[in-house]
Amino acid sequence: MAIAFIILGAGMGTRMNSDLPKVLHEIAGAPMLVHAMKSGAALAPDRTVVVAGHGAAAVEKAVQTYDPDAQVVLQAEQLGTAHAVAQAQPALAGFDGDALVLYGDTPFIRPETLAAMAAARLTHDIVVLGFEAADPGRYGRLILKDDQLDRIVEYKDANDEERAVRLCNSGVIAANSTMLFDLISEVSDDNAAKEYYLTDIIGIARARGLTATVVRCEEAETMGINSRAELAQAEALFQAQARQMAQEDGVTLTAPETVFFAHDTVIGRDTVIEPNVVFGPGVTIESGATIRAFSHLEGCHVSRDAVVGPYARLRPGAELAEGVRIGNFVEIKNAIIAEGAKVNHLSYIGDAEIGARSNIGAGTITCNYDGVFKHQTVIGKDTFIGSNTMLVAPVTIGDAAMTASGSVITRDVPAGDLAVARGRQENKAGFAVRLFEKLRALKAKRS
Ligand code: UD1
Ligand code: MG
Repeated sequence: MAIAFIILGAGMGTRMNSDLPKVLHEIAGAPMLVHAMKSGAALAPDRTVVVAGHGAAAVEKAVQTYDPDAQVVLQAEQLGTAHAVAQAQPALAGFDGDALVLYGDTPFIRPETLAAMAAARLTHDIVVLGFEAADPGRYGRLILKDDQLDRIVEYKDANDEERAVRLCNSGVIAANSTMLFDLISEVSDDNAAKEYYLTDIIGIARARGLTATVVRCEEAETMGINSRAELAQAEALFQAQARQMAQEDGVTLTAPETVFFAHDTVIGRDTVIEPNVVFGPGVTIESGATIRAFSHLEGCHVSRDAVVGPYARLRPGAELAEGVRIGNFVEIKNAIIAEGAKVNHLSYIGDAEIGARSNIGAGTITCNYDGVFKHQTVIGKDTFIGSNTMLVAPVTIGDAAMTASGSVITRDVPAGDLAVARGRQENKAGFAVRLFEKLRALKAKRS
């Protein structure tokens, strides 16, 4: 069955008190909207249509960064959830598979839950995702009758008996797309909120003799985000799950509650993550690596048995081969570090390649930026870069070459050579003693 996702995200999100559209606020380094798209990815949707309103241009950019094939349509005025879904109709012209409506501010629906809905569609025309609410509050209530979902009544329009129902509407709905749009065309705004309610399609469908059912999920899955406090709760929930999953996957977390994952962090078995490590997006770590305390990693790849930190920073494009050592106060950006190479202390390595087993001395810096352009530093294998070497890029250091400590290297160093590029040392006999005497005498005269 072909599937199209229609993701609603046009709402203003007033309670976020933000210039950013609500659905672009991030959880674990990805917009909440992208989390909703990712949970649907397991169903391999053929089409994805996001309905945007406030900040639609920014929403479009974020959506297409994650999925270039996704379409973004505009709902200029927010007249209700049915009206929002109707905006997706032109984008889905000619599509006659299933449509699954999701909310962009509800990021934790599990892929398994969506799969259960797709399965329930084999026996029913409309499937609604429901949950037993601990406190049903203002949710729409699911009214069952004779083993069928008979209708959904919004809180504002419900009587006391209906308000007593605890089975609530999550908002996720699945139906054949042609039928869905047809049902929506009959929805009116004749209700307490003067809105076009998507939920009205159930009553309309039942009156036509169509079938409807409820798939249930845990309330936590349907958590919607409306405020900064809820955003923080969602982040905490995500992190708690990510820590648990990492541990189940065989990763040691010394102090799990101090490690922060991104939405896409991948970590191999028997890797050890020490306390206070933060992962930005795009990190892959292979098996048996050690990420020591207080390190920050994003957009990088760490191979087997590498050791990173404590206090290391790996930025986008850092590619560490097996057994690499990156030590304290070292920053690596857009650089390939080959097997067994070491950058152990106080260095910046950017736009560079470092060959196997090379040892980069303390305080070494690749001077990659001339104020306008970035340039490349290439260091061969088995080199020894002396402490406090400035490598002024573009520059190449040949295999098994050395640089003298404190050198400013502006020209290529051939393989096997030693480059010395600093002032030659001169010792002035007895000078220090004479200078000290002079200075102390001066001080005595002043006091
Ligand atoms: C909706 C449901 C309710 C359900 C609840 C679950 C309806 C009528 N009601 O109520 O049964 O229990 O969600 O959270 O569907 N949106 C648009 N355009 C609009 C209106 C809404 O894109 O014109 C988007 C919002 O950005 C949001 C989602 O649709 O992502 C839900 O809208 P919201 O206003 O929060 O609906 P509720 O009143 O919470
Ligand atoms: Mg809501």
